[in-house]
Amino acid sequence: MTGFADGRGDIRADFPVLSRTVDGVPVVYLDSAATSLKPQPVIDAMVRYYAEVGANIHRGKHMLSEEASDAYERARQRVAESVGARGDEVVFTAGTTHGLNTVAVGLGLSADDLVLVGADSHHSHQLPWRHHARVEWIPVRADGTPDLGRYAELLRRRPAVVALTHCSNVTGRYAPIAEMAALAHEHGAVTVLDAAQSAPHRAVDIHGLGVDALAFSAHKMMGPTGIGVLVLGPGLLDRLPPAMHGGGTVDWVTTDEVVWRRPPHRFEGGTPHIAGAYGLHAAIDYLGRLGWTHLAEHDRRMGQRLLEEAERRDHLSVVAPGVGDRGGIVSVAVRGCRDLGELARILSDSYGVMCRTGHLCAQPYVDAVARGQVLRISTYAYTTEDDVTTAFKALDEAFPLLGAERGDR
Ligand SMILES: Cc1ncc(COP(=O)(O)O)c(C=O)c1O
Repeated sequence: MTGFADGRGDIRADFPVLSRTVDGVPVVYLDSAATSLKPQPVIDAMVRYYAEVGANIHRGKHMLSEEASDAYERARQRVAESVGARGDEVVFTAGTTHGLNTVAVGLGLSADDLVLVGADSHHSHQLPWRHHARVEWIPVRADGTPDLGRYAELLRRRPAVVALTHCSNVTGRYAPIAEMAALAHEHGAVTVLDAAQSAPHRAVDIHGLGVDALAFSAHKMMGPTGIGVLVLGPGLLDRLPPAMHGGGTVDWVTTDEVVWRRPPHRFEGGTPHIAGAYGLHAAIDYLGRLGWTHLAEHDRRMGQRLLEEAERRDHLSVVAPGVGDRGGIVSVAVRGCRDLGELARILSDSYGVMCRTGHLCAQPYVDAVARGQVLRISTYAYTTEDDVTTAFKALDEAFPLLGAERGDR
């Protein structure tokens, strides 16, 4: 099967990295959950800013500054439309981590406040809460879904915040966010969603999901690194103070008075990633052209295919196996293999297959389910069925080569 096609044919030609080879073997990029490849229109949009505009935003009255400011605000509006929010509810951040920290700092929690955090959360959605408050873990069942019975019990302890993850970066499992957020609100908790792994594949709508805030990163959805989005719903928008103070956040400053700008500007201190906003705008346009329904279907199909391939190999043990609502991510433990990093190196250097190993920044969970390390294969719109076949064939061939490394576990 060829790659995902849009009206112009196979989209793979849009991704320059896919034309690279390793010793004559084409690159098979299966690390999209870490960061996605960028299509040419995104690269062109960023180059256009640097080559033709170059100026800073919101500070100057000259033509180039106004052009950059307009483009930056148009990018915000484009993001807002794509997440069902108003422009003033969309804050540009440096990425998911920055967005989640902005909320964790701004809520002004105390050490006695309780925050519920999913046991499979990325470090970026557990460490800020662990730093600012007291954390209880929402357990994850063997199939990767949250234990909703235990969740309901934990809510009776009146948490201040529930930190939800839409799609796990380890298992690819989606959680029933609308249901979990509604329950959290019944108990008076603020809900904060990590949408880093879902926003690239599904249209995330803050009101449809019913959360108070959500964060994601441009670089995982064909956009540039260094820019992300924090969407603040009505419950938080006016209540949250800026976590970072500086130029651009204020309307008026005297020696003893500060008047904050209205949101979203009060959250965007300092010169932002202007080229990043050009790139993110182009990425959302690109994804829109592919179509969100098709993107989600492709993601589900890839997830299904990864699972089937992994589950029929005795030497692989899938983290959170079983059918259900899942995207194109699978993580496996490899029987008897103590050094998955070495396996990843062989896959890369001998087969051109790029995938990830380690604890995936979800160390407590990966420690509990896979003795601290997994091999993760993750896909995106440019991934083909052939890529998946190549990766598993390469794994089959590389596995015996690791004989010296293996031992009974
Ligand atoms: C689920 C999840 N949350 C948060 C992050 C952090 O994203 P960033 O590094 O772009 O801030 C990641 C990145 O891998 C992720 O997968």
